[in-house]
Amino acid sequence: MFYQRKWWKEAIGYQIYLKSFKDSNNDGIGDLNGIREKLPYLKELGITLIWITPFYLSPMDDNGYDISDFYQVDPAFGSLDDIKNLLKEAHDIGIRVIVDFVMNHTSDEHHWFVEARKSKSNKYRDYYLWAKGKIVDGKEVEPTNWASFFGGSCWEKDELTDEYYMKIFSKKMPDLNYRNPEVRKEMQEVAKYWLDLGVDGFRIDAVAHLGRSEELIDSNLKTDNKYQPDWRKFSNLPVLFDYLKEFKENVFDHYEIVTIGEVGGDASPKEAIAYAGYKNGPLKMVFNFDHCWSNNVWQLEKSSETVKVDLLNLKQVFDKWQRKQYQKAWAPLYWLNHDHPRLMSHYGNPQKRFLSGSMLATALYFMWGTPFVYQGEEIGTTNYPFKDIREFNDVGVKNSYENSLFKSLEEEKKFIFQTALKSRDNARTIMSWNASKYGGFSQSEPWFHLHPDYRSVNVAAQLDDPDSLLTYYKKVFELRKSEPYLSTFVYGSYQQLLKRNPHLYIYLREKEKKILVITNFFDQERVVNLPRFKVKKILLSNYSDTRTILANVLLRPYESIVYEVEK
Ligand code: NOJ
Repeated sequence: MFYQRKWWKEAIGYQIYLKSFKDSNNDGIGDLNGIREKLPYLKELGITLIWITPFYLSPMDDNGYDISDFYQVDPAFGSLDDIKNLLKEAHDIGIRVIVDFVMNHTSDEHHWFVEARKSKSNKYRDYYLWAKGKIVDGKEVEPTNWASFFGGSCWEKDELTDEYYMKIFSKKMPDLNYRNPEVRKEMQEVAKYWLDLGVDGFRIDAVAHLGRSEELIDSNLKTDNKYQPDWRKFSNLPVLFDYLKEFKENVFDHYEIVTIGEVGGDASPKEAIAYAGYKNGPLKMVFNFDHCWSNNVWQLEKSSETVKVDLLNLKQVFDKWQRKQYQKAWAPLYWLNHDHPRLMSHYGNPQKRFLSGSMLATALYFMWGTPFVYQGEEIGTTNYPFKDIREFNDVGVKNSYENSLFKSLEEEKKFIFQTALKSRDNARTIMSWNASKYGGFSQSEPWFHLHPDYRSVNVAAQLDDPDSLLTYYKKVFELRKSEPYLSTFVYGSYQQLLKRNPHLYIYLREKEKKILVITNFFDQERVVNLPRFKVKKILLSNYSDTRTILANVLLRPYESIVYEVEK
């Protein structure tokens, strides 16, 4: 089963954060026709699969992840015809299209919720999760002390009916009640609608949270927070696999599609196999976040401290996921998505954009799995220099800021410093296409920041430059897809070498061919000695004069090489 050829195993994916990708009608907001304009670019880059973030009708509390009608396209993003045309044009040039399927919640402006909150006996009441407040020391508090991912409690009081509804994201995103078979049926209809329209599958948002602890008991975590970030209360609970199996049988199995669940931070490889294992998994693969958190970004306190890559940690994460899932489940390969800081500011070095960026591409995209590039990664976009709380857009940042009880100006400064480094708003800055005003994104002022360095770091500047990062990305995907190497890169075994070396990430891939990938993660020279490998060919390298003998090789800063070696 693992080796069974499937289009989605051999695809090269690219994630499009719709609002910031390309604006075709000059209203400052990226749209579906903007993607159509850029299909030739994606094709040239070697992309065969795009994932588009939500374009459904939305009040935009969370930039479209809060949906008020699953069947309508938000006019800010285009029309139903635009999505049909996009699907057709993409398919005509060999690019498949997957879309976000947001199953976990709706907007509070969705008519189900508008109805549900009218009365306890409303037909839609049970589409959501309601509970009575608790009386503690004579005062009413939330039903439990569980936190929300976006700051504050995961419960919101609804005054009219005097009950709380559950919302693990923002208060404008009430959670659906999957215990209710009506909800499951409705959402299966939604999925069918888009699949019948021709989408090639789904990235399933927040799939890990569809099941929730039935017992409303306070968490016994004891952090300093008022509400406890006890994600186990609503993550990866066994009941959700029953829900997903039902989706699989009633919907997914009837189409040649790919389904990729977002399982986030708490899932283990064992759980990933429960989601996406060949034998019983209801999905085709899952995104986990382990490698997105493998350095000190979340621990930095002072602006004098710098981001440090913990390669040993990262290597362990890669090793764990590559080995434990091999031949058991499929997996995506990605560095970041729209919820993470920029790769170049996280694991790379903006002063050595080409070298560090090409090293990171080499390290990731020759492992097994389906690559997903995040927009802007291919040109080495960095974090935005956020300095002030008002510069952020993310509802999660705003909520956390409001819920933080700063005791001093210093504390507030620290919050902003840390948020600037880790905020997902970094990934949502406007795509830089060229050096013109507004970066070629739009003729009007964009809805969000354009990176201050867009005049030098943009697609046009790199497209025809043989030595650019963008050109290197093209080479990576050309090589990955080329015969006779494709089957080794896609399906071959994975073995890490020099596991305890804290500077070098080296791995072997083997099937019809034997491939050795060597990457130096740092800005210093390192020696590597692997004389037992006899080089047949250099397949790719980010320096022009790469050595072909593997005895005592001096690797230069960020040097990365893909060798074919003798079997
Ligand atoms: C995960 C999405 O990737 C994120 O952007 C969103 O805020 C939450 N799920 C809620 O939909």
